[in-house]
Amino acid sequence: MAANRGREHWGSGFGFLMAAIGSAVGLGNMWRFSYLTAENGGAAFVFLYILMLFLVGGPVLIAELAIGRGAARGPIQALGFYGGRRWKILGLVFVSAGFLIASYYSVIAGWTLRYGLEAIFVGFDPKPAQHFGEVSTGLDALAWHLVFMAGSLWIVNNGISSGIERTSIIVMPMLFVVVCALALYAATLPGSGPGYQYYLEPDFSGLFSRKVLSEAAGQAFFSLSLGMGAMLTYASYLDRTSNLPVQGGIIAFSDFAIAFVAGLVVFPLLFALNLSEDVTASTLGALFITLPKAFLELGIAGRIVGTLFFGALVVGALTSLISLLEVVVASLSDVFTLDRRQATLWTGGAAALLGTPAALNIAALDAMDQVATNVLLMGGGLALAIFTGWVMKEPELELIAGSKRYRILKVWVPLLRYVVPVILAFIMWGSVPKALKAVAALF
Ligand code: PFF
Repeated sequence: MAANRGREHWGSGFGFLMAAIGSAVGLGNMWRFSYLTAENGGAAFVFLYILMLFLVGGPVLIAELAIGRGAARGPIQALGFYGGRRWKILGLVFVSAGFLIASYYSVIAGWTLRYGLEAIFVGFDPKPAQHFGEVSTGLDALAWHLVFMAGSLWIVNNGISSGIERTSIIVMPMLFVVVCALALYAATLPGSGPGYQYYLEPDFSGLFSRKVLSEAAGQAFFSLSLGMGAMLTYASYLDRTSNLPVQGGIIAFSDFAIAFVAGLVVFPLLFALNLSEDVTASTLGALFITLPKAFLELGIAGRIVGTLFFGALVVGALTSLISLLEVVVASLSDVFTLDRRQATLWTGGAAALLGTPAALNIAALDAMDQVATNVLLMGGGLALAIFTGWVMKEPELELIAGSKRYRILKVWVPLLRYVVPVILAFIMWGSVPKALKAVAALF
């Protein structure tokens, strides 16, 4: 295909998988999934999450992979390629969402880097809550945001196979091993038992309320990096022999598995150290305040465990941020025919700037997150499902290139046509006003 000429490619299918799983596994896995699970019904929530993966996340993931690989371009050009000029606007929404998420995600990533380095060199602060207050906003936060952003841009600038792929192949297997080892360690701590119970004890009451449904679907979207063209962009560097349904399955399963195992680290650890009271603290607070408290109490073992834990967070954040940046870089290169270096510089400069309010004001960070996840990702996913299900001609044809005719293909288009839009519209009905309120509160 002409569109493919001269385009970079992944060095191997394994490299693509590591990069895509790297995009998926991030801050959303290491704490948010297990926190939502514990809050919303334990194993019952896990069941609902898996259901959402099959009904909503999986079909949209596969749609992104098929469109990206078929068009071999970034989101704006890819949607234009299949749907005509009008649909380029959706591509533009994707790129804007990627850009917005990249800018505040890098701020949180900066905190994780600082915590990781502190764990190695100075140990955890004896006053974790106060310390988090100092770290999370202000000029310090800005500086760490810029450092993290610069490192990520450097990787993106090195290109698909020698930058993103090489990094992912090295760090992702390390992340798997570390998270599993930490879960085993947590299991050996006396008193960890009730942690498992708190995390997973099933409670089906309220499972199908709008709130819980939207938490499950929202988490599936955010965690799989869907609704903003990250997977689409990564798939645009694939060749047509790759088996998309199988690769999609591996990505979704690995993402879920890491999130699940991370919960087996966090809760047993907190319960073993009698910190269960603090668990209901705000999402981020628990990650950056309660866990460091636990590491502090564990003494020297805590330094090691804490370093590994924050190291895993840094890796997760890094491989996610580079995918967010790549969406923008790929689109700038496509649309303005810039070379990679120029596109990376523009993207990085602008994202660093947009991240500044998030670094200086945590309410701004929260509002950006609400708008990105509740409005842009969900809306993007909804529009993409409608596009693939109703507008694109014979999307199955792209999907079966390189794969067998799986039975699942029979349900893929009907899910995109009827199920995904209904579920997402139902959820957005409740979540969009909430996001708008967070924005209004800023002014
Ligand atoms: N999937 C990432 C996480 O779970 O932390 C976040 C993310 C990365 C969202 C990349 C969207 C994206 F394009």
